Amino acid sequence: METAALASIHWHDERFKYDCEARNQKVEQACFHHFFGKNEMTIVDLGSGTGSNCLYFFEKFPSNQNWIFIEQEEKVSQYALNRLGIEADKRGYEVIHGERSLALKKEDRNITIEYITDSFLNLVDLVDLDNVDLVMASAVFDLITFSQFVDFGSVLLEKKLPLLTTLNYAEMDFNSDSPSDVVFIEKYESFMNRPQEFGKAMGKKCPRILVDFFQKQEATVEYGPSIWKLEGESAQVMNHHLLNFMEAASNQMIEEEEEMMLFKDWITSKRESIEDEVLSTYVQYYDLFVTNN
Ligand SMILES: C[S@@+](CC[C@H](N)C(=O)[O-])C[C@H]1O[C@@H](n2cnc3c(N)ncnc32)[C@H](O)[C@@H]1O
Repeated sequence: METAALASIHWHDERFKYDCEARNQKVEQACFHHFFGKNEMTIVDLGSGTGSNCLYFFEKFPSNQNWIFIEQEEKVSQYALNRLGIEADKRGYEVIHGERSLALKKEDRNITIEYITDSFLNLVDLVDLDNVDLVMASAVFDLITFSQFVDFGSVLLEKKLPLLTTLNYAEMDFNSDSPSDVVFIEKYESFMNRPQEFGKAMGKKCPRILVDFFQKQEATVEYGPSIWKLEGESAQVMNHHLLNFMEAASNQMIEEEEEMMLFKDWITSKRESIEDEVLSTYVQYYDLFVTNN
């Protein structure tokens, strides 16, 4: 398995606990309320990664569920099915592995999961949306451009398809008042929405754009903050991951040599604070549940 996919898997696994804690309960309840009384659901998960949405929801949603994962990295999807099989087995489910699918059975619960290796931007060509009840997407919309999102959001509105989207990046902060924090966080955010071959990703503007777009179309939008709180010893690995991402981006986000020296000093001191268990990082996201009846 290539290193990038492996690194990404390790990162997803590490994040899971913080993702679960961050989920906005008001938004989640609005989603449960919407589907109350239904006994079967077909759910499409965009940029499904290692299957964290499914792992979090499969015992919370109705007893019959059909999940369709759309993920561009095949190896990540293979890992997701293995991970879900292992976790379901621990919870007493019968687990049946297919080539690109998984079935989980326990008493009256029947859950199927299949994956499609493609870009979720091609959603309409990949899935029959008339047979889908819910579209889900976590930590992906900030990676795409506004116009890519509009194309996509318009289809959901037209099909009257509910959308549950969580972990839309808004901002980050450290528990210090060092002016360098502000400088390097801003540089990192500019890097996240740097021009790429497909345009400029929405980055930190993503939550505002999403809410604004759906409200203007008169959809019902329940939204609220979801926050990663990376504090103390248990969050050391996560904090190191975040700093590693910033360091990996540094050549593209900093041009001047002098500023690069300052960045290196800054990141070294942050790493020392992690080892001393005094660094806390807060990453603020927004969760949204959108319906259009
Ligand atoms: C930050 S991860 C989030 C994964 C997962 N939704 C979660 O919350 O754990 C983003 C995922 O989206 C996938 N991805 C990004 N752009 C995509 C696209 N256009 N089509 C399909 N997958 C995409 C990446 O490969 C990665 O697995």
